[in-house]
Amino acid sequence: MIRIGVIGYGYWGPNIVRNFHTHECSDVVLVCDKSPKAEERLKKAHPAIPFTTDAGEILKSPNIDVVAVVTPVWTHHELAKAALENGKHVFVEKPFTGSTAQAEELVELADRKNLKIMVDHTFLFTGAVKKIRQLINEGALGELYYYDSLRVNLGLFQHDVNVIWDLAPHDLSIMNHVIKHEPEAVVATGEKHLNGVEDVAFITVYFPNRVIAHINVNWLSPVKVRTTLIGGEKKMLVWNDLEADEKIRVYDKGVSMSANPSNLHQLLVSYRSGDMWAPQVEQVEALRAETAYFMKCIQNNETPMNDGVAGLQVVRILEAAEKSVRNRGEAVRL
Ligand SMILES: NC(=O)c1ccc[n+]([C@@H]2O[C@H](COP(=O)([O-])OP(=O)(O)OC[C@H]3O[C@@H](n4cnc5c(N)ncnc54)[C@H](O)[C@@H]3O)[C@@H](O)[C@H]2O)c1
Repeated sequence: MIRIGVIGYGYWGPNIVRNFHTHECSDVVLVCDKSPKAEERLKKAHPAIPFTTDAGEILKSPNIDVVAVVTPVWTHHELAKAALENGKHVFVEKPFTGSTAQAEELVELADRKNLKIMVDHTFLFTGAVKKIRQLINEGALGELYYYDSLRVNLGLFQHDVNVIWDLAPHDLSIMNHVIKHEPEAVVATGEKHLNGVEDVAFITVYFPNRVIAHINVNWLSPVKVRTTLIGGEKKMLVWNDLEADEKIRVYDKGVSMSANPSNLHQLLVSYRSGDMWAPQVEQVEALRAETAYFMKCIQNNETPMNDGVAGLQVVRILEAAEKSVRNRGEAVRL
């Protein structure tokens, strides 16, 4: 049994507790939240799990192997660092840390201590993202042209981070997972309308081989949209995460151009419009698959795909995007 201590029992913490607690290889032995009100909620859901308001009890306990950090981002570095220093593996919420320097420090510390870090990039464990990665890896889309994601809703407003740090980690982790190239530069724009942090932002990421990604995150949208378009030379797909069935639709559509033999200065454009198909997408609770995978990585001493380095790569783009927003869309090299 791998013994887990969870710090943070707010909105997301209960999902982490439930998944670690119900897995056959792990057991949540202590939950901490600095707010005593969280205890009532924990007692209702899991009466047998002890509660504390002092994170030190988890961080220093000799009876805990893994610390899950499910608190706001500005606390991640301090709590994860203390857990690693006390010889514990860590499961940290996205975004991994509030800065690249903090992420680098944690990666180095875990390496030195031979401990695992897993960053909760939940979407990588959804059936949809697994299928998209499979299609891209098999070459079904051909050479990639673009990745374009729309993640908008009315709220939920956060008070400690802007919309980029709140929502873009999902898209950036997915993008890094499915696009094989390393991102080269970021251009981002955004605006603050209500509470002093950006609530609307547009992020463009440049990759080698003319692959381009665009992410639109917005807390001021009248409707909820979770749609990603991925275009390739051979096929194009639309992933609508709000669809119950047919989340992914693959279109045999494309454009080709050739020189007009009778006038070499003229291009002949031909549009291909073939079939659409909706591949089967595995129905799993992503967090369940992710927590089970972490247990397996610890037991087999394997590095998780969503390790500290993957978390660091996302934080590096977030930081670059924020810098670009401050300079009104100036390109920031990665
Ligand atoms: N993976 C996902 O899909 C997903 C979804 C939602 C939130 N998150 C992430 O989870 C983290 C928490 O988000 P949330 O929405 O649950 O926030 P929240 O504010 O609802 O909950 C955070 C909890 O942490 C507690 N806390 C803060 N500092 C503490 C400390 N030092 N010791 C003990 N308790 C402390 C607070 O009292 C609060 O109850 C964030 O990093 C967020 O980005 C991830």
